[in-house]
Amino acid sequence: MLWRLFHSGRNIERYVHDDAWALVTGASDGIGKAIVHELLGRGFNVLIHGRNEQKLERVKEELAAQHPDRKIALVVCDASQVSYGMIEDVVRQVGDRYITCLVNNLGATERRIIPFAKQQWADVEDTTNIGIRFVAQLTRALLPKLIAHQPAVLLNLGSSSQLVHAPFVSVYAATKGFLLTLSQCVDMEMRADGHDVEVLYLDVGEVNTTAHDVHGTFVVVSSASMGKAIVDTVGCGGVFVTPHWHHECINHILCCLPQRLVDRLVTNSMLPRRMDVVDRKTE
Ligand SMILES: NC(=O)c1ccc[n+]([C@@H]2O[C@H](COP(=O)([O-])OP(=O)(O)OC[C@H]3O[C@@H](n4cnc5c(N)ncnc54)[C@H](OP(=O)(O)O)[C@@H]3O)[C@@H](O)[C@H]2O)c1
Repeated sequence: MLWRLFHSGRNIERYVHDDAWALVTGASDGIGKAIVHELLGRGFNVLIHGRNEQKLERVKEELAAQHPDRKIALVVCDASQVSYGMIEDVVRQVGDRYITCLVNNLGATERRIIPFAKQQWADVEDTTNIGIRFVAQLTRALLPKLIAHQPAVLLNLGSSSQLVHAPFVSVYAATKGFLLTLSQCVDMEMRADGHDVEVLYLDVGEVNTTAHDVHGTFVVVSSASMGKAIVDTVGCGGVFVTPHWHHECINHILCCLPQRLVDRLVTNSMLPRRMDVVDRKTE
């Protein structure tokens, strides 16, 4: 919390040098699109990634109208179908652009809120392909570019479901545990080898998006305010950081409560969203 008192929110500008580009995954909607808007506003050219080329073209037009001085390009691939060839193709689409910022925004999105015992093969495959294999292989492929173009920054979007251990989205929450450990280890490697590459794991709480259509409380923030909070957080000094102050307040309150009580509160908040129970009621 204290870092907010001494933080200008403009440290991202350190990574805007030469003809700097950022790549944002899952950028055609939600938090990813809001991050792109912020990065364009701070001077980056941006590669926007998604699986639907037509939707990406529409987003590109919309953002280009708001940021006429910036360059925007597309990276198209379905992250649920990870293969060696697919990652090589993404690297080819990035080309020789001067990448100084990689934002691993995309996480598993088609969340089926059901107990682990009821998950199907495809549920686990999609969630782990997007949340583990794609993010790890993409980062492996592009990290040498960030190192070559340092100072550079790697932003990994986590989730409060990792912090509070949300039930009924167990595999999704676990992918964020993987991402946190990956972020911490890569940060240590960067510092051990003297590379000026900042690594952040962003602990994101509830955000109103197309996929997560909930509104209007202190707990749920807008995509736009989350996009700004994430970009402002760069340079805060730690790897694990909660970008939005609303969510940080909630974390502090939860920290003061006994673990069993936190588990009960989290479970109770997830119960009404269980899809297997809703399905049974509508049968
Ligand atoms: N929203 C929340 O409350 C919340 C809470 C905690 C953490 N987070 C994290 O924040 C990040 C962004 O979440 P969000 O809610 O903004 O997501 P979102 O609104 O569902 O947007 C996801 C983006 O990813 C794209 N996408 C989905 N599946 C894809 C695939 N297989 N291949 C390529 N692109 C794909 C979507 O494209 P289409 O337009 O084609 O669908 C869209 O651009 C995720 O890492 C999530 O885990 C979100």
